[in-house]
Amino acid sequence: MMFEEAFQAKVDDPGSFVIPISVGGSELLKGMTDLGASINMMPLALYEKLGLVGLEPTRKKLMLADRTSRVPHGKIKDIPILLDGIVVPTDFVVLNIEEKSNDVARWQVLLASDSDVSINSTFASRYVRTPLPRFKMAENSIPKEAAFQIINDELMLDGNPRLNLASFVTTWMEPECDKLMMASINKNYVDMDEYPVTTELQNRCVNIIAHLFNAPLGDSEAAVGVGTVGSSEAIMLAGLAFKRKWQNKRKEEGKPYDKPNIVTGANVQVCWEKFARYFEVELKEVKLREGYYVMDPEKAVEMVDENTICVAAILGSTLNGEFENVKLLNDLLVKKNQETGWDTPIHVDAASGGFIAPFIYPELEWDFRLPLVKSINVSGHKYGLVYAGVGWVIWRNKVDLPEELIFHINYLGSDQPTFTLNFSKGSSQIIAQYYQLIRLGYEGYRNVMENCRENMIVLKEGLEKTGRFNIVSKEDGVPLVAFSLNDNSRHNEFEISDMLRRFGWIVPAYTMPPDAQHVTVLRVVIREDFSRTLAERLVLDIQKVLHELDTLPSRINSKIAASVGENVDNGTLVTKHSDIEATRKIATYWRKYVLEKKKTNGVC
Ligand SMILES: Cc1ncc(COP(=O)(O)O)c(C=O)c1O
Repeated sequence: MMFEEAFQAKVDDPGSFVIPISVGGSELLKGMTDLGASINMMPLALYEKLGLVGLEPTRKKLMLADRTSRVPHGKIKDIPILLDGIVVPTDFVVLNIEEKSNDVARWQVLLASDSDVSINSTFASRYVRTPLPRFKMAENSIPKEAAFQIINDELMLDGNPRLNLASFVTTWMEPECDKLMMASINKNYVDMDEYPVTTELQNRCVNIIAHLFNAPLGDSEAAVGVGTVGSSEAIMLAGLAFKRKWQNKRKEEGKPYDKPNIVTGANVQVCWEKFARYFEVELKEVKLREGYYVMDPEKAVEMVDENTICVAAILGSTLNGEFENVKLLNDLLVKKNQETGWDTPIHVDAASGGFIAPFIYPELEWDFRLPLVKSINVSGHKYGLVYAGVGWVIWRNKVDLPEELIFHINYLGSDQPTFTLNFSKGSSQIIAQYYQLIRLGYEGYRNVMENCRENMIVLKEGLEKTGRFNIVSKEDGVPLVAFSLNDNSRHNEFEISDMLRRFGWIVPAYTMPPDAQHVTVLRVVIREDFSRTLAERLVLDIQKVLHELDTLPSRINSKIAASVGENVDNGTLVTKHSDIEATRKIATYWRKYVLEKKKTNGVC
């Protein structure tokens, strides 16, 4: 029930209830009151029976849970009510309510529910007591305060994004930018005619990023590119452009065009596997090996054949942050193209590195300076420093994006060329990207990236000092530290990851792809908001975890012992089986354990 007027001070809520009232000693009527809401309601019938006078008009409006709203007949003030021998002057709202018992019962519920929300603390209302719908939509609405509180409270159980060291995605932006984003949260990006300035900002971002990647453009020449939801969408678009170009060429040459493939390292992010599966392109992966966790350009070029639509190199491997050698790949591929007459191009997946290399490794040649690099994607929401929901794909030239993939739609007002997988999306992220580009400029981005790199080194050195870890990331790459235990025979990286959660840290552990799947690593991504203090604190917490693990029996041994009925003595497996049998059991257990963990520890 919603009342437009101010309420009296709240008293303890006894809930709503119906009181039988006798008039003239014989007639029994129902009166209803809800003291908790400081609302007393009297049916019109009772008002009339009592012969009361002094009904005043009221602006109060009652909204009932069945969505009907009622305007009371009026209100009466200071009706003397005898309570336990004391006369209490009481105000009533007089409502024309039918006196059928069922009806009254229904009204009672409704009154109680609404008074709960308007007056009581949300936590005293029934909404926090009843189970929430999980599968089917609830029959009735609930008040906004209750909906907010319930959802807000459940969300408290999510991790703290700032302590989520698993993710490259931005978790902090300046309040001024937050303000801009909130102000544009209701703008659909695709309505370009209605929001021409937003479209203009996206075009400016495309131009700025293309120049950052050394696209061969004149100073005021417009670049070819588009804003996307993230690198995944950007990669789908770039992949489609390669596939279509390759198919067109094969058709012209009268050659079969039904078996396209793409060459990548086995370290590619899952979005490449998605692209391959969704768009029916064979994914040919160069296998990794222990100690070498990126695509080997020589092996990649060996795998290229006439059906290869492109080779995808990663600037900043998801697994260990390492930059792949795009220059060497380009040079080897130029040679192969000359020898074979093919025209195999390169795409650079610079999801993370695209906003790092231009600022702290400007001399590194990985971008459009290399002739075979035809398109590049970058995540605006990673080191582009914008909250989740923005990526970019830039093509070297107009000719690299087949015109037939661009749709021209005009039903929203004017011609709108679009090349995206989805239609509607928010504008805030695009606006925020432009904010970051102009607010930080080259200097600002460089400072942020250098800072991240320094904090990465603090963390790396802290971990090295423990003497327990092998660092598998490189200093000159994405600022992250990927590390594995020197000895994980008693306790493993997954246990460290689990135990760090107790301190609030989210540090993923995962196994490397083939042929390095026996290597497990922990990875800490250093973002802008991960300060030196936090880096030092994390080292201390990792030390604590290591000390604690040292005092615990080996988890794997305990589990194996439990599963085969053996004893664990001080963490050492006392085996009744032959050594070979025990080794086999351990290996089987490990495999199962790692596979289970793999399912729950996706890295992005
Ligand atoms: C190398 C690489 N490519 C692509 C992606 C997917 O990016 P997004 O999350 O922006 O779709 C990631 C995500 O971490 C990545 O690391």
